[in-house]
Amino acid sequence: MAHVRIASTKALQGSLRVPGDKSIAHRALICGALANGWTRIAGVPRSADVSATIRALNACGVQTQRNDDAVVVHGAGPDAWLASGNTIDCANSGTTMRLLMGVLASQPGRVRLTGDISLSRRPMRRIAEPLRGMGARVTLSEGGVAPVEIEGARELRAIAYELPLPSAQVKTALLLAGLRADGETVLRGRVDSRDHTERMLPRFGAALDVRGGAIALQGGRRMRGVFLDIPGDPSSAAFWLAAALLTPESRIELRGVGLNPTRTGFIDVLRRMGGAIETRVQRSEPEPSGTVVVESSRLRGITITGRDVPMLIDELPLLAVLATQAEGTTVVRDASELRVKESDRIEAVAAMLRAMGAKVDTFEDGFTIAGPQQLRGAIVESHGDHRIAMAAAIAALAASGETEIRGAECVGVSYPAFFSTLSSLGGCVQ
Ligand code: S3P
Repeated sequence: MAHVRIASTKALQGSLRVPGDKSIAHRALICGALANGWTRIAGVPRSADVSATIRALNACGVQTQRNDDAVVVHGAGPDAWLASGNTIDCANSGTTMRLLMGVLASQPGRVRLTGDISLSRRPMRRIAEPLRGMGARVTLSEGGVAPVEIEGARELRAIAYELPLPSAQVKTALLLAGLRADGETVLRGRVDSRDHTERMLPRFGAALDVRGGAIALQGGRRMRGVFLDIPGDPSSAAFWLAAALLTPESRIELRGVGLNPTRTGFIDVLRRMGGAIETRVQRSEPEPSGTVVVESSRLRGITITGRDVPMLIDELPLLAVLATQAEGTTVVRDASELRVKESDRIEAVAAMLRAMGAKVDTFEDGFTIAGPQQLRGAIVESHGDHRIAMAAAIAALAASGETEIRGAECVGVSYPAFFSTLSSLGGCVQ
């Protein structure tokens, strides 16, 4: 499936469930591995990123069992981990590597964390520095990247830390380290990223409080296993929202989608652009989730800056695709984090849209696109980045002629069934 060809499509119709939320799955698996007793997690996606976390836990001596979409983690507490001396391959998964760094900060012995070419370019100082402040030894490769070597401290010190950037991975790594630190770990500053960890840790019995813009976690609490049902991933649902909006005569219903307000920024923005989207929250546990219905719409350009950015960071490449079809100018700024994701997503999405004939201006921290612009089918590159490959597929639906996506197999990182689902909705996929 290295190359996939997609032709412009007339109408997309259907009702479906998207794979379980990848962010929540990583956290649930790791918390289960630190707890005592069984944790049963339903709705675990079969994506390569989540498999990397499962393999990493297994390498540390934690047993897991998969039955269909559920995974049982046999937790025996952090003292039962056997991490020392391991080399753990985190593949393409930044979340696996960064969250594990937090856990390994208190594990005895030395562990080496490696990743693929993309992950080996991503910044790790943002985690290494505060973990060193807690007493862990962390050695990075030149340029502050992986491979990472980490040697845990038997007695971690709790810290008060001002997060300089709104990263949920950094926030989570420090909270996971704080679970075993001596005293209260307090995080302030840019804590305004997705809050799955803050919601999940108390379910497992951790003593965590969020008050007045600060997160406080008391170290040393024993955690216990729980049962969890993971909702659908809103970042995977996002592709179908975009597809229905820009394909005429389309209507797609998505069931069981996560609707945590720190993840619904894209839906809010699409509505501001004129998108016809209805959401109905049907469950509140373990996080809000429900049905989302979307229909073809005429879109207007929009400006996204500042505090809005972290709430839809993973959806910004897709927003660039929609911007080419919207009336007026779309501006995205304050999003330089896009340059250090699985690819440089500012350049990758701009290159993809330019290959299809669009005019895109890029900046260090974002892009502007004036629409509407007619896209033409072309040969485009995924840059090995799952979200760029899927964004290209959505652009192809609106383009004239046929588009070939090179390196399309990377969709398996988050959404292995993406192309078969597109085809079942009526997309012309070869
Ligand atoms: C994630 C956080 C985000 C996001 C990534 C998954 C997480 O990164 O881009 O895909 O699960 O914590 P940040 O650490 O930049 O928030």
